[in-house]
Amino acid sequence: MISIIGAGKVGSASAFNILRFRISDVVLIDVAGKLAKGEALDMMQAAPAIEFDGKVRGTHDFSEMDGSEVVVVTAGAARKAGMTRLDLAAVNSDIVKTVVKEVVRYAPECNLIIVTNPVDIMTYIAYKESGFERNRVFGIGNTLDTLRFRSYIASELNVSREDIRALVIGEHGDSMVPLVEYATVSGIPIKDLLEKEQIEKIVNLTKTSGADVIKLKGATTYAPAVVIAIIVDAVLRGRNRVMSVSTFLQGEYGFSNISIGVPVILGKNGVERILELKLSAKANTQFKKSALIIEDMINNLHART
Ligand code: LAC
Repeated sequence: MISIIGAGKVGSASAFNILRFRISDVVLIDVAGKLAKGEALDMMQAAPAIEFDGKVRGTHDFSEMDGSEVVVVTAGAARKAGMTRLDLAAVNSDIVKTVVKEVVRYAPECNLIIVTNPVDIMTYIAYKESGFERNRVFGIGNTLDTLRFRSYIASELNVSREDIRALVIGEHGDSMVPLVEYATVSGIPIKDLLEKEQIEKIVNLTKTSGADVIKLKGATTYAPAVVIAIIVDAVLRGRNRVMSVSTFLQGEYGFSNISIGVPVILGKNGVERILELKLSAKANTQFKKSALIIEDMINNLHART
C-alpha cells in the first residue's frame, strides 16, 4: 500500500494514476479530511471503468498511513506572485517537517518521495528530519524535467516520444541541466539530428516548461502526477529503473550535504545506486553552479529558521 499526503490537484491526480496503472492501493491523507474522502469516493466510483479492484480511501488521520511501503509528500503551499523560492522554502519546510514526523511515527520503514517545492530543499529537510538512510528519501524534480525535455525533443524532430531517451540533472529549477550529450532517439545522439539553435531552443523550453504552464493555468498537475506514478511503480515493483531524482549527496559529483537531481537506479530500496556520469566541461560547470545555488538556499534557510 502507498500513502499520499496532500489531496490537492497533484496528490489526487497521482492517486488516480496509481489506481489506473493498477500499481497499488492508496490512502489519500489531507488535513482537509472531507476533501481527501471526497477525492477517494470519486475515484472508487470510477474504479469499474478502469478495472481497479483495490482500495482507495481518504482521511485526515495520519495513523492510516500505518505500514505504507511508500509515502509521497505533496503537501505544501504553492508559490505566490512576488514570492522567492527561498520564501517558499521557509513556508514549506515547516509543513514538511510536521508531515515527516508523522511518517516516522506511522511508516518508519517506508520509501519517502518528496514532491513539495522547492523539491531539492524539501528533500534535504525530509532526509534530515526523518533520520532515514539516505537511499529511502528522494524527490521527483528532474524526472519531471526529463519528461518535458523528451517531449520537446520529440516535437522538434517530429518523432515518437517513446523513442526519446534523455536525462536532466541539477536543481529542479532555473539552473537545471538538460544533458544534451546523453539525449538520443533510439540510440542516435540528438546532436546528429538537430542544429545547435534547435537544441538551444529545446533546452530553454525545458527550463521554462513548469513556469509556462503555471503562467497559463496557475499550477501544473498532469505531468507531476504521472511522474509520481512511474516512480512509485519503480520502487514498489523493484524495477531498478534509471531516472534522475533529487537525492542526498555524500561526496558524489564533488558535493556533500545537499540534495540535488542526479541519475540513480531506482528500485525496492529506493535509490539503489547513484550513477556518476562523465559530464562535458560545459555540463560539469552548469551542474556545479546548480549545486552551489542549492547549497546557498540551504544555508540561507538555516539562517532564517
Ligand atoms: C513543476 C512543479 C511540480 O515543475 O515543480 O511542475
